[in-house]
Amino acid sequence: MPASWNPEQPEITDLIVRHNPRTLQREPVYKQEVLEIIHSFQNQQAIHAVEQLPDWDGVLVHTAVDRTILALHWEMQRLAEEFYYAHRVWEVLRAAVMALRKNGFLQKIRIVDLGCGVGDTPRWLAASIRAKEQGLEFAGVDLNATRIREAPRLAEAERLDCKFFHGDAFSPQLVGNIVVSTGVAHHFRGAELEDFLRRHQYEQTLAFFHFDFQPWLLAPVGSWFFHRLRMRTAIARHDGVLSAARAHTVETLVEAARKGAPGFATGVYGARIWNTSAPRVFHTLAGIRRPLMAEFREQLGRRAGRLGELQ
Ligand SMILES: C[S@@+](CC[C@H](N)C(=O)[O-])C[C@H]1O[C@@H](n2cnc3c(N)ncnc32)[C@H](O)[C@@H]1O
Repeated sequence: MPASWNPEQPEITDLIVRHNPRTLQREPVYKQEVLEIIHSFQNQQAIHAVEQLPDWDGVLVHTAVDRTILALHWEMQRLAEEFYYAHRVWEVLRAAVMALRKNGFLQKIRIVDLGCGVGDTPRWLAASIRAKEQGLEFAGVDLNATRIREAPRLAEAERLDCKFFHGDAFSPQLVGNIVVSTGVAHHFRGAELEDFLRRHQYEQTLAFFHFDFQPWLLAPVGSWFFHRLRMRTAIARHDGVLSAARAHTVETLVEAARKGAPGFATGVYGARIWNTSAPRVFHTLAGIRRPLMAEFREQLGRRAGRLGELQ
């Protein structure tokens, strides 16, 4: 079993950047404090990755940390492109958008990518979907200043019409009509997962789709091999495997959603490969307001079979 296969451990990227949750100002991170947390899990791979980061008087150097985080996200974006990931996101978004329209929602639909990182998903959507024609607005929000600073830089270079905000995607001025996320749900565990889902209860939020790894028998070996093969940065290799270890089962996601977000019909989309019992690497926690449920299923068309029971 790889050293990073312990779901109780925090991910390195969550430890090496810290922001004041109120002001969002960056705060110093002491390398020794990070190492002590990792030492308690006796994870040599993580210790080695953190030791490589430069510090100044014991404080991790922001610019070096930022460079590492961006390198890691560029690697992740390349992978997402190879797997046509954004196409899969649009597959469910399109059905949700159509369900809203068929139910008489004629205003602009604001689609927010919560924890958007460097903005791969909103940028792909802006590049591929005729947003204006369809009355859509694509936005990305992230609490992490490093990731969110890079997103508008890339969007501007690519001349894309999407917006990015540094902040909490659940704050009233940023909240979306449809909320999506990738690789975020597993960062919330136990009661925190339920609290995360409870925060969707804004009246204007009509659907949410949280894409994340799915745990399964071969995931430890599979994710380790895959990250060795495709990732170059030590932290990406470590955190990628740990993310798979921390992934929530269908049952955990659905139970938390039904307790935390009872105003939505919730279930999991895309847990199995076609009609086989083989699990997909990624699955999606789907939540949709009840009056939209039937039309959403209808709009999924031949993909409706991928949608589990919505309740
Ligand atoms: C592992 S990253 C995922 C990044 C990106 N989605 C990707 O796949 O590359 C999780 C991100 O979620 C952000 N996040 C968590 N809760 C958030 C919230 N309520 N609002 C905005 N960002 C949030 C964190 O700051 C972090 O950058």
